[in-house]
Amino acid sequence: MTESENANEPSPSPEADAAAAAAVPPKLPKIRLITKPALAPDAPEDSMWELIGGRDTFEKLVREFYVGVATDEVLLPMYPEQPDLEGAIQRLTGFLEQYWGGPNTYSEERGHPRLRMRHMPFKVNPDARDRWLHHMRAALDTLELPPLYDAEIWAYLDRAAHAMVNTFED
Ligand code: HEM
Repeated sequence: MTESENANEPSPSPEADAAAAAAVPPKLPKIRLITKPALAPDAPEDSMWELIGGRDTFEKLVREFYVGVATDEVLLPMYPEQPDLEGAIQRLTGFLEQYWGGPNTYSEERGHPRLRMRHMPFKVNPDARDRWLHHMRAALDTLELPPLYDAEIWAYLDRAAHAMVNTFED
């Protein structure tokens, strides 16, 4: 503004400028309020599925897991198609991929997961659960994921396995 535009308005001193600026909070970039974990399974753009390597990583996890299951005298006999575990490998891989933000092929082929219901025909007692988790822990270790991703996936698997227990009988 020039003096001729508004002769009555005194031009503010540098001190006045500084005082005025201090009275107004500086403009900060907008901070998104985080209401869900950044890696929630419904965030396809940065899904865990993508972050850790997609199909290849999930299939490796499940194949390693079933290497362990194949040696397990309690778990192996539960699998209706054993010693052929290929179908089971495909189903678990598909389910985990879908859960962690990958393609929905599992539900397209198998419908709603209803995992607890699907496990009812099998005797999932604490021993079976711990064996399942033991083989899964070993399989997850082979992926050597960044610790944060490993911990997030493990927390889920541990919780899911505990939820799958359907009997406390030996
Ligand atoms: C806790 C111990 C568990 C035991 C002993 C167990 C055992 C089994 C058995 C025997 C089958 C049938 C094999 C087949 O035909 O696919 C099966 C299927 C399956 N399990 Fe488990 N399971 C356990 C935990 C879990 C957990 C924690 C998950 C998921 C995180 C899971 C996901 C699945 C899936 C997706 C299928 C295929 C379901 C279908 O579409 O028919 N299981 N499980």
